[in-house]
Amino acid sequence: MLAKKNLVQQQLKNMPNEILKTIRTRRSVNQNSFTNEPISKEDLLSVLEAANAAPTHKRTQPWRFVVFQNDGLNRLGNELSRIYKAITPSEKYNAITEENMGKKATMSTVAIAIIVNYSGDVPEWEELAATACSVQNIWLAAHAIGLGGYWASPGLINHLGPFLSLEDNQKCIGIFYMGHHNSEVRDPVRSPIEEKVRWEG
Ligand SMILES: Cc1cc2nc3c(=O)[nH]c(=O)nc-3n(C[C@H](O)[C@H](O)[C@H](O)COP(=O)(O)O)c2cc1C
Repeated sequence: MLAKKNLVQQQLKNMPNEILKTIRTRRSVNQNSFTNEPISKEDLLSVLEAANAAPTHKRTQPWRFVVFQNDGLNRLGNELSRIYKAITPSEKYNAITEENMGKKATMSTVAIAIIVNYSGDVPEWEELAATACSVQNIWLAAHAIGLGGYWASPGLINHLGPFLSLEDNQKCIGIFYMGHHNSEVRDPVRSPIEEKVRWEG
């Protein structure tokens, strides 16, 4: 037991700077910067295991994912374009937007549909929060191994239920588009943390 504890402490001692560096340099990277390099199964599993390590009240582990690759990306792209066309009022419809909806999938190497599975055991917001934590883990793990991506949440994700075979207690809250990329490191657009913190004592 002691040996195990020491090992964990040792690992933690070496980790913080790398983690902070990863957190600070993570950015949203979109399809325009993705390269054609495939994502290995090993990398994909690392990213998904990171998602599965997210915190979760009562261990309900509400995050669910549908991973699209290869021809799955074409199916997802077609469905996104189809939904856009079906739900957009004719006066707002734009053929280029329809095409671009599909391209978001087909220009990605992997697309991960993000789903919350509401268990009913804890308030819904807690399971939404836990799933968001799992997405941040995906984002950071991907960045740590050289992958870029971003969380897309267009309104039409509310119509993906049948396509994703969602249960009544499940909701799609976005798609994480991912790929190897050639984007430059850039500063985050953020106002100072001092504006968001009140110190007491
Ligand atoms: C819940 C959530 C939904 C998001 N939805 C979209 C989206 O639909 N389209 C998009 O381009 N970016 C989306 N983003 C990414 C944000 O635009 C991005 O995180 C923000 O611009 C800050 O940039 P950074 O991630 O590089 O720090 C989303 C982020 C979050 C957390």
